[in-house]
Amino acid sequence: MKGVILVGGLGTRLLPMTRVTNKHLLPVGRFPMVYYPLYGLMEAGIRDIMVVTGGNAPGDFMELLHDGSEFGLEHLSFVYQRGAGGIADALRLARSFVGDERVLVMLGDNILGGSIREHVAGYHQQPSGARILLRSVHDPERFGVADIDESGRVLSIEEKPEQPKSDLAVVGVYMYDERLWEILPTLTPSARGQLEITDVNNAYREVGELTADVLECDWSDAGTPESLFRAAEITRGSAFWQSADLPTGAD
Ligand code: G1P
Repeated sequence: MKGVILVGGLGTRLLPMTRVTNKHLLPVGRFPMVYYPLYGLMEAGIRDIMVVTGGNAPGDFMELLHDGSEFGLEHLSFVYQRGAGGIADALRLARSFVGDERVLVMLGDNILGGSIREHVAGYHQQPSGARILLRSVHDPERFGVADIDESGRVLSIEEKPEQPKSDLAVVGVYMYDERLWEILPTLTPSARGQLEITDVNNAYREVGELTADVLECDWSDAGTPESLFRAAEITRGSAFWQSADLPTGAD
């Protein structure tokens, strides 16, 4: 399975911190934000990763991460997304990298308090389709929101609904098979002018090919000053991150 980490965007909600650098290079606890998704994928057994950057300071990711070997990666590549076309637009840049394999896509500003290993293993058992992760939150209107039935089947996903049907936010960790490449060309821009990842997930749902796991560990995005602070708290309070062997750069 390949991994794609998205670290583009202008990070406008974090101005002025993002005026001269990229949001995903800002500190979360002891480490630059991008370290967390990178390590999280590696820990789940994914060793071949593409970083899709954009916005400010794209070259700094290469300077920081080199070839990924400090993280135990076999292969690390970089690509630059022009403009702000959205998550699904960024994925198109990973098409040839992913090839015929399955892919785990992670938004670089999503910080989880634990491992994603069991969710990845569960997806490997799934014969086809996509798998998403959900987390109960107190402010679902800030996110994609999934409505599920008693058996865990996803009934709908709405992007930032004014009146959420549940408190289950869609976490920025998505697992897809090769159907992704058929879905991407069918998407049209949303009201915010972006190709939405929620539309990709709904396309899988409509053909009965979407499963969802409810996450038990903590989770936060880190796109606003408050959530950035919360993300740092999560890493500090997490046994997973406290025992993680992240590279210190002091070699
Ligand atoms: C994106 C997705 C949203 C998801 C969120 C997780 O939102 O569109 O569905 O819940 O990431 O962080 P954005 O950060 O682009 O507003």
